[in-house]
Amino acid sequence: MKCVRCKGKGIIYLKRHNAAFCQDCFLYYYNNQVKKNIKRHKMFDKKDKILVVISGGKDSMALWHILASEGYNVTGMYINLGIGQYSDKSQQVVESFAQKNGLELIVKDIKKEYGLDIYKLSKLLKRSTCSICGSIKRYLFNKVAYDGGFSAVATGHNLDDEAATLLGNVLSWEEGYLARQSPVLESTHPKLVKKVKPLYTLTERENLFYVLINKIEFLHDECPHAIGARSILYKEVLNRLEEESPGTKQRFITSFLEKGRRHFQDVQEKLELKECSICGQVTTTEVCSFCRFVRLSNQNTEN
Ligand code: FES
Ligand code: ZN
Repeated sequence: MKCVRCKGKGIIYLKRHNAAFCQDCFLYYYNNQVKKNIKRHKMFDKKDKILVVISGGKDSMALWHILASEGYNVTGMYINLGIGQYSDKSQQVVESFAQKNGLELIVKDIKKEYGLDIYKLSKLLKRSTCSICGSIKRYLFNKVAYDGGFSAVATGHNLDDEAATLLGNVLSWEEGYLARQSPVLESTHPKLVKKVKPLYTLTERENLFYVLINKIEFLHDECPHAIGARSILYKEVLNRLEEESPGTKQRFITSFLEKGRRHFQDVQEKLELKECSICGQVTTTEVCSFCRFVRLSNQNTEN
């Protein structure tokens, strides 16, 4: 196995590109992909302040590392969601990386700061912990980015994540989600910050290679609530297709972005955006779901 770029000894073979790379040329390929994605979709530039969402897993750690090494103005943001050992371990990993590399990090603890407990809320509202957790995360990413004057929120979504989400949305023809699935979600309100996914063309395996080569510590465990999630099944199905026909995932995403997505634009829900009467953040209801969660959690502890 020879490296396609320098003809040295290849250490990673990327079936979908029918190409092997040595360590240095793999890093060159990886950097190039990220730079191209940022440029092609006009995600941000060196003058922008970027908030990078960090979970402690390989994808977000790779994103944080590459953006910082490329000289972007990045600040990490970690949310402790109170998911037992998983949250404690991931916070440690993230804090130690920031400290070792002199990187800025904002940490939010939903229990300590807001009295929120995703398990209690899930029981009271009869909603899954993942959906409660998702609403809290989306709210805090945007709030912290808006209050801190950031130009964009960057997440570590990879090609496998994007293809699995797309498959899920196609299977039930979720028109609203299909209209919004994109590596860049532009702001539609002055208080909503743009969202970007610079790693959307790189696979989980490539991100893993990137963190291993750069000796970046990361949390190997997945969130315990991810077990049994539909997205994992979609990933397995897509992996099977990828094995038979390398490049399937990339084709699925790129052809959707080039040819499919535009057909859903006119069905984008025209929801009226308001500002929450308590916190002022963007919502479609009088009081946003985050403020309702806070109110509910605190009422419940008082009773
Ligand atoms: Fe939110 Fe797992 S990270 S429930
Ligand atoms: Zn609110």
